[in-house]
Amino acid sequence: MSTVILGIETSCDETAAAIIDSDRNILAHHVYSQMKTHRAHGGVVPEIAARKHVEKIMPVIETCLDEAGLKPSQLTAFAATCGPGLIGGVMVGMMAAKGMAAALDKPFIAVNHLEAHVLTPRLTSNLEFPYLALLVSGGHTQFLAVESATTMHLLGTTRDDALGEAFDKSAKMMGLPYPGGPEIEKLALKSNDREKEKAYKLPRPFLGAKHADFSFSGLKTAMRQNIEAFPEGPIPEAEAAALASAFQHCIVETIIDRCQYALELYKSHIGENCARLAVVGGVAANQYLAQQLADFSNTHNLTLDIAPPALCTDNGAMIAWAAHERYALGRVDTLDFKALPRWPLGKARKNG
Ligand code: KG4
Ligand code: ZN
Repeated sequence: MSTVILGIETSCDETAAAIIDSDRNILAHHVYSQMKTHRAHGGVVPEIAARKHVEKIMPVIETCLDEAGLKPSQLTAFAATCGPGLIGGVMVGMMAAKGMAAALDKPFIAVNHLEAHVLTPRLTSNLEFPYLALLVSGGHTQFLAVESATTMHLLGTTRDDALGEAFDKSAKMMGLPYPGGPEIEKLALKSNDREKEKAYKLPRPFLGAKHADFSFSGLKTAMRQNIEAFPEGPIPEAEAAALASAFQHCIVETIIDRCQYALELYKSHIGENCARLAVVGGVAANQYLAQQLADFSNTHNLTLDIAPPALCTDNGAMIAWAAHERYALGRVDTLDFKALPRWPLGKARKNG
């Protein structure tokens, strides 16, 4: 009989849950986005996020149970993101999962949010190990050699801002609403003047460097300088579109360049050439990035795997799936597992 797991995600501004069985069927999937609440503040306010999670977590879980037509007692295990993330929110989801597990005397599974993003392609397309993962989210930008559900080697990371953060901060400076990634993408589509785009000088750090790290803080500064060069008031749409497009070109060129070196590092860890590239995390929803990575993958004989946008951004399905991977290996956690605001991948699990 297949196992059925409830996964809960509350580490940022999405109150999300999903129920998945071990045959990869998503029986229920629900996300309550707090975006409108945080928009007024131009970014996520941790205390407000935690309070909203408290308000929404049970309705979201109940909606999932209704959608799946299951009673809590019919589930095999309960899982939640236990870090990294905004600690107030993480504790809300974690306590909900622990509470249900304790009341029903079922296993509780603590999930690392980053691990869950990285394992998503195994839910959506049954991607085989090993693979190279590019994790691009609001808080992280990393290359990982993924050997198994529990063994991942960090090949490169950002030395300052995360890619999603660069999108969000640049968008905010341009007067665009939060979250800025999808807004910049939409605006860039309106640009049709390549010459105008080229006039914006934006830095591409580490181009050609023999490592797989990133740096985006200089890009943020350059964006501010370009924006401040406009007269007071809203930036004319054609100019803003060209700047948004120049920003995306800059980012994608940097990513593709870093991918080349990440492939070499991958080989030294896994001992064979890379055959599969998975791009995960919220920024993987960006279609321009996806197109350019598809070209790159063709050139390098890689199978490219990008999950559908709804499973790239934070969701409960990725948590439930990561829990399935752990459960299948006999790894469950005790109820004294502590929420971890920081929880780097590859670091030993702290328990209790
Ligand atoms: O993975 P995620 O939902 O949350 C974190 O774990 O951080 O990622 C959120 C990030 C935000 O920075 C958001 O602006 C970015 O993903 N994002 C995008 C797009 N959709 C979401 N960035 C660029 N283009 C998009 N279409
Ligand atoms: Zn995330």
